[in-house]
Order: sequence, then structure tokens, then C-alpha cells
Amino acid sequence: MITLVKNHHGLVADALVARVRDALVCRSNPVIGLATGRTPLLAYATLAAQSRDLPGLDRATFVMLDEYLGLPTDSPDRFANVLRKHVLGPLGLDDSRLVRLNPDAADLGLECERFEGRLRELGGVDLQILGIGTNGHIGFNEPGAHGDSRTRVVRLDDSTIADNTSALISADEVPRYAITQGLGTILDAKEIVLAATGVSKAEIIAELVDGGVDEKVPASVLRHHPNTTVIADQDAAGRLIGHVSEKSHPVSSMQVSR
Ligand code: PGA
Repeated sequence: MITLVKNHHGLVADALVARVRDALVCRSNPVIGLATGRTPLLAYATLAAQSRDLPGLDRATFVMLDEYLGLPTDSPDRFANVLRKHVLGPLGLDDSRLVRLNPDAADLGLECERFEGRLRELGGVDLQILGIGTNGHIGFNEPGAHGDSRTRVVRLDDSTIADNTSALISADEVPRYAITQGLGTILDAKEIVLAATGVSKAEIIAELVDGGVDEKVPASVLRHHPNTTVIADQDAAGRLIGHVSEKSHPVSSMQVSR
């Protein structure tokens, strides 16, 4: 796992966009897994601004990472709607280009199998973008999730529900359940890039980068993955061992390999 520390959120976004551009150019039929949450939104806005100059976009398929259960179809908090608003729409792509997790399916177990089957048909995810929860979740794989778990319905951790209470725009009631790619599903991606910004992520990024693999920190399974990059801003990297703050070390980025 490689860790890149960037001076600010804008440079984290630029680094994410560079990875997406590489995947679009280098892969014959690029399959890109999209996270939601606040962290990647600036990267998505940057991508949108470059929409006329994205080679490979016409061959690309985008894949959802997770989705809430129990929100109305038109809720702005549904992750499919977030991705339509911030990625598909600005890039001029229709819904057929997004492999969705359908929270309205009559049989959610079958829906999870359908989703996994679709990923296999596509030849797997080339580049998976991830954020990280303050409790270490990736997707909605909460602490205790198994490293070989597949796409499934999960109950959200109390800390996630608390984080979401301020983050959700429209929900009268914050969802308690979600459907998520499993940790094993995520690990199947050929390349993974996890972005983290802000001081609220400093503790969990230190556990991820400087700690061991531990079910209490679901993201730590990424240490088993051969091609994962963590990209953090100075605030999120603030508790890393050996971290040098921007003030005393004015470089635009630095790389820490562990
Ligand atoms: P955030 O969410 O980007 O809004 O911090 C990340 C996550 O919970 O996975």
C-alpha cells in the first residue's frame, strides 16, 4: 500500500482525477467503481469540467459501491441519484452506463448475486475509488465485516448513522440498512485508490497506514491488495508516524511507502 500526502483537498481531487484518466486511457473497456460521500465530490466536479477531453469515456462503465435501503426513489441522498447528479449527468452519460445496486429489488439476495454476476461479465473493476468512514468502513463494510465478504445487505454501525444524521440532505429518518459491495468484492478490483481529507479522518488514516490488518478497521484489508494507494490531505495525514506538516515541509506532495 502506498500513501500519498497532498497539501490540500484540491490536490487530492487532482490525484484522483489523474487515476481516472489513466484508467480511461489504458484500459480497453474501463470499469470504474465510484464512491459517494463528500470526499470524492471535488474530484467529480474536476472530471465534469474536463468532460470534453476525457479519452475513453465512450467505452467506460461505472459501478456503484453501495446504496441505502429505504429511501424514496427520488431522494437526493440515494447514491444512484448522487452519481447521476455529480458524474453521469455532467459527463453526458445515460443510466445504462452505471451498474446500479437496486435497493427496491423484491429479492435483495438475488439483487446482490445479479450485481456480482454483472461485475464478472465486465471482467471486474479496473479502478475502484473509495472514501473511508471515521470508523474505518469502506463501502458500508462496518467494523467486524469479514475480509472475504461479498455484496450483501448490512446494518449500519451506530457511528455511521450518527455521521449520516448531519450529512443527509432530505431523509426524515436516517437509513439503518444498506446494500454494499463486500470487502472481498472490493479487493477484486485491479487498482484501488482511497481518498481521505480533513482532521476527522486523521485517527483512522493513522490506524490504516501504521496499524496492522484488523477486522475492527475494515479498510485495513486493503493492506492485502497489491495495488492500493491512499491519498490524504495534510489534515487527514496529521497523525501518521513520521508525518511532516506543510508548514515545516512545504512540498506539494510526498510519498510514504509502508
Ligand atoms: P465522506 O464519507 O467522504 O463523506 O467522509 C466517507 C465514507 O463514509 O465512506
